[in-house]
Amino acid sequence: MQEKILDFLKRKEEGYVSGDQLSQKLGISRQALWKHIQELKEKGYEIIAVPHLGYQLTSAADRLFDFEVAHGLGTKFIGKKIYYFEALASTMDVAWQLGTKGAPEGTLVVAEQQTKGRGRLGRPWFSPKYKGIYLSLILRPRMLPAQAPLLTLVASVSICEAINRELTLEARIKWPNDIWLGQKKLGGLLTELNAETDRINFVVIGMGLNVNNDKKSLVSSATSLSEHKKEQVSRVRLLQEILRRIEANYLVLEKDAHPLLKKYREYSMTLGKRVKVYCQKRHIEGEAVDIDSDGGLLIRKDSGITEKVMAGDVMHCR
Ligand code: BTN
Repeated sequence: MQEKILDFLKRKEEGYVSGDQLSQKLGISRQALWKHIQELKEKGYEIIAVPHLGYQLTSAADRLFDFEVAHGLGTKFIGKKIYYFEALASTMDVAWQLGTKGAPEGTLVVAEQQTKGRGRLGRPWFSPKYKGIYLSLILRPRMLPAQAPLLTLVASVSICEAINRELTLEARIKWPNDIWLGQKKLGGLLTELNAETDRINFVVIGMGLNVNNDKKSLVSSATSLSEHKKEQVSRVRLLQEILRRIEANYLVLEKDAHPLLKKYREYSMTLGKRVKVYCQKRHIEGEAVDIDSDGGLLIRKDSGITEKVMAGDVMHCR
């Protein structure tokens, strides 16, 4: 019912919707309508009520409610089913559970806050309420487990495309899948795979993005979109654009990985740099020369030999 009320109010952006008209159209009493309006206000929507004129929505809440994200999304399968949580430990665990129970491809788990958000290599992911985008997406790709890193590439490329086009910023990818803005980290991706030797059952792609975090609340190596834009950024609009681009890039990848790799190279801030990659108790140093067709990073060592790394922590050297 509240979605329908919002729908009416949104369509009449400039003017008022009379309470009588609204309750008649929705088939509910004036009293019931008033109660729903109060609940919407508690959820963060600013709605004013003027005697003889009616209700007006003066500001939407920018909450990542399932119906807000789904409204006008226009995708075929990404985000067709969205599970929304005010707070939970980690979206990864809920998505994993849903995946094992057969949730369809494109199912999304979104949280406003995570109490045990996790990043790569067991690191914690700071997830304060209403500030960022924290989500996990279930995919069921028809590809070999060894190709799974390409899915993370789809997500990182899509995030950069959405941020750079929508907000005219210059987000870049630090290999393998950190999103950076300027010289600081803006977001990251975590992929968990449920697979057999020759087939993927499902993949959960976790995405954490700092959107409206104050500079003061972030560690010195991190940044947020609002810090760069000097204004609040609509999380709903940005998330919708990211989801649209994930769907488009994923559909292309199913046919051919080359266009995705081309985009990845363009957004990469690692390629062409001298790097030190720490992977499993050793490190490799050299120039990051290319990204391989399976998403691995090719490093030309000083000996002239090129080595490929599939996972690890990259340090960009001066
Ligand atoms: C990283 O850079 O280390 C990856 C961070 C991934 C964080 C996201 S937030 C949503 C999802 N839930 C989690 O617990 N982690 C991922």
